[in-house]
Amino acid sequence: MYKTIQLCMLSLFAFLLAISSTMAEEGDQDSKKLYMTKFCITCHGEKGIAVAPNYPNLAKQNELYLIKQVKDIIQKKRKGKLTVLMTEHPVINRVQDNEIAAIAAYMKNIKQ
Ligand code: HEC
Repeated sequence: MYKTIQLCMLSLFAFLLAISSTMAEEGDQDSKKLYMTKFCITCHGEKGIAVAPNYPNLAKQNELYLIKQVKDIIQKKRKGKLTVLMTEHPVINRVQDNEIAAIAAYMKNIKQ
């Protein structure tokens, strides 16, 4: 009897572990999708390494810093000739705060 309960507990634990890791991956998938569908990928590269030498890499950068920069750029608080690539982009200049946060978290943890 005791052994059965122990086994049940063990399989329940394994099941919960499996679910939580799938959920974490799904979260990652969602942010990855955002990174692609909001066009960030076209300039900042598939793995957060920029496609041009004068564009910034985002991979492994601090999350809070990324969030602030995107907001500053979109609100035109950050000056710099190249910021027009983001401020005048019809999709990027409408990106939502929660989407920016998700993308920043994705960049922070992105695997190379
Ligand atoms: C058309 C190209 C292009 C696209 C698309 C684009 N960016 Fe950028 N991004 C740039 C360039 C160029 C800069 C550098 C601007 C400057 O010189 O100040 C930049 C700057 C940034 C920075 C500041 C980086 C730093 O180190 O200060 C962040 C963060 C960022 N982009 C995030 C994003 C996110 C998130 C998206 C998608 C929602 C996105 N970008 C889409 C070109 C792009």
